Amino acid sequence: MKTARRPISFAHFWQLFVLLAAIVAGGRAVAAEQTQVERGEYLARAGDCMGCHTAKGGAPFAGGLRIDTPFGYMLSSNITPDLETGIGRDSSADFYRALHDGVNRHGKDMYPAMPYDFYTKLTRADVDAIYAYLRTVKPVHNAVEVNHLRFPFDLRWTMGAWRELYFTEGTYRPDPTKTAAWNRGAYLVEGPGHCSDCHSPRNRLGGIEKDRQYSGADVDGWFALALAPDIANGLGAWSPEDIARYLKTGVTPGKDNALGPMADFIRDSTSHLTDADRLAMAGYLKSIPPDSRLRTGRVDPDATKRRGAQLYSDNCGSCHQALGRGMAGVFPPLTGNPEVLAADPSNLLQIIDRGIPARLGYGPMPGFQTQLTDQQVAEIANYVRSSWGNKAPPNATSARVATLRAGN
Ligand code: HEC
Ligand code: HEC
Ligand code: HEC
Repeated sequence: MKTARRPISFAHFWQLFVLLAAIVAGGRAVAAEQTQVERGEYLARAGDCMGCHTAKGGAPFAGGLRIDTPFGYMLSSNITPDLETGIGRDSSADFYRALHDGVNRHGKDMYPAMPYDFYTKLTRADVDAIYAYLRTVKPVHNAVEVNHLRFPFDLRWTMGAWRELYFTEGTYRPDPTKTAAWNRGAYLVEGPGHCSDCHSPRNRLGGIEKDRQYSGADVDGWFALALAPDIANGLGAWSPEDIARYLKTGVTPGKDNALGPMADFIRDSTSHLTDADRLAMAGYLKSIPPDSRLRTGRVDPDATKRRGAQLYSDNCGSCHQALGRGMAGVFPPLTGNPEVLAADPSNLLQIIDRGIPARLGYGPMPGFQTQLTDQQVAEIANYVRSSWGNKAPPNATSARVATLRAGN
């Protein structure tokens, strides 16, 4: 559930425009003549692509670094422009889809071990710049089998529930009430920097616990400390300059040096950024409310939505895919689908209950009459009607399903 946005006045609209221009320019201001490739290299640093896509002692970006997860381990893929084993055949649109939607070039959902839930905030121009840069790195022939997760998590669609609940696609939207520097910092921290990926605790499904964002978490046997500006436990006592210096050098007077994954991250990523960008990130971190529940857009899904997402993922997601996008020519999309969005939910309930025989070039869809209760059918229908941009009223009830079933 999203918190209601305040209506945007004309003055706000104008400010928003100025900010957008400032953010776009902010990327360029680093050096007036920075080429697209140079900008891409800088952004790849900000996103630590090399840190994760390079095996210990391996060639840059050739993949093979082991990433442990509670569900087994993964190896990062080869993102050099090698034609057979890398991303040499990917278009810039394929590449954007990987970063923005978390979908690989075979049209399959990726695992969130690749932090696309943060990279989705990158602008198209910034992703295109990273793409242009990656085309200039040395192609390396290195075939990587990425998936070493345990059954059933090795089946990509089992991550559907995670995507349903925790992934929201969307480019960063500047906050018109804040300064350009704040917005630049927010963009870098919440987007490419993916700080929350390590610094926020996760639940059993691997989703970030939204009401405990930045409160610290275990990473590979290390503890990524709290970043919220709490005095007792967090960055409350640090000035923005202290934080910026730490992100540059890993050292802060009166504190220990950075260790473990943060030392790697500073070496590979934040030490390469400009002072202005590090200070902008620090300023943003200082502005996070200590109680992160107060942050807009960070509300955890309610119980009904969780149940609907789980039911959808278990019963429909393997065919209609996470986020209802379907699969061209095989399974119709459920987003923007008139059968789904009709004012009256009866047709949708009938389809779920009885299935559809093969038609229109599609195979058949199975019915769920014997597998789902009246209540479950209604909850799936309501979930599908009101998710992924679908805005039909969630007006299906178990009583309506019972009536339809009695008539069938
Ligand atoms: C924390 C580790 C990590 C970081 C950081 C990371 N990646 Fe990845 N990336 C992965 C993993 C793991 C996969 C494989 C995911 C899968 O197949 O489900 C992957 C997959 C990809 C793919 C898809 C490759 C294919 O075979 O289709 C692309 C493209 C990619 N990453 C680009 C990037 C870029 C660009 C960055 C930096 C902005 C980046 N990655 C940062 C771990 C990471
Ligand atoms: C790969 C995981 C990882 C990522 C990504 C990451 N951190 Fe960290 N961070 C850690 C760990 C682990 C520590 C604890 C290191 C230590 O104690 O020396 C840490 C420590 C810190 C500290 C010191 C906190 C203290 O109280 O001493 C700051 C500040 C910090 N990180 C900021 C950031 C920012 C800003 C980002 C994003 C730009 C970020 N981190 C991204 C893992 C990560
Ligand atoms: C085994 C794969 C499969 C599963 C599981 C599945 N569907 Fe389908 N679904 C299809 C296929 C194939 C079609 C197209 C059937 C046709 O038109 O011939 C379809 C069609 C639909 C349609 C009609 C779309 C249109 O444009 O006419 C809706 C709505 C729908 N499915 C919803 C669901 C829901 C909700 C679930 C879970 C309760 C679900 N489906 C489970 C394969 C599946």
